[in-house]
Amino acid sequence: MNGAEIIIGRDVADLSERAAAEFVGVANRCVGTDGRFVVALSGGGTPKSLYSLLASAELRAQIPWVQIHFFWGDERAAPPDHPDSNYRTAFESLLSKVPVPKESLHRIEAELAPEAAAAKYERTIRDFFQLSGVGWPRFDLILLGLGGHTASLFPGSEALNETARVVVATYVEKLKSYRITLTLPVLNRAANIFFLVAGEGKAAVLRDVLQRSKNLPAQQIVPVDGRLVWFLDEAAASSLQS
Ligand code: 6PG
Repeated sequence: MNGAEIIIGRDVADLSERAAAEFVGVANRCVGTDGRFVVALSGGGTPKSLYSLLASAELRAQIPWVQIHFFWGDERAAPPDHPDSNYRTAFESLLSKVPVPKESLHRIEAELAPEAAAAKYERTIRDFFQLSGVGWPRFDLILLGLGGHTASLFPGSEALNETARVVVATYVEKLKSYRITLTLPVLNRAANIFFLVAGEGKAAVLRDVLQRSKNLPAQQIVPVDGRLVWFLDEAAASSLQS
């Protein structure tokens, strides 16, 4: 993918250490220039290792927690204490262990009806970025994972065609459940986009995305004027042509 950086670690711990180092760097540069760092976290299991590292004694001291605002790239239609909740995953592995002001945690209120949750999150984001009716938020960093989908943009979903809204609710047939997700225009306007992809099970889909041999949502992650970095482990990268 043109312009994207690919960083390959030995395993998920190594890729997470590399991603953590970049996270610390971007956070401190943003706070140094703008007085704040605005990040949207990803869900699923892969980022847990990164989140735990950021909360570790060594790294936590290097991060300006009080100036960071946390958002989420997507959320399952579940309350914040549900095992499926992306908010809960991040809270348990990171946010409960570091001095982030609670008013800086801008979770998706996915306990609401999906459309209401999406509308409320869109208002939260527009208000935070002081956007009037038009304009797009520019996150300093958005973390993404990879399945057949990314964020909660699934193959064939109408959500992939959204060109006006920041956030949409989307019904995922194969999961028989709703998701709430940031839309492609928002993801692509981030200053930094980090994909975290680990494990043999991701090797085929990663190859399909990076070598464009299938039409998958992650191929539509093309930064407008930002930096795209793929943090992989050797197992996930094992099917890439050298
Ligand atoms: C979610 C995520 C989703 C995730 C990928 C990879 O809510 O599930 O946002 O996009 O990043 O499915 O998940 P794993 O890291 O668990 O493989």
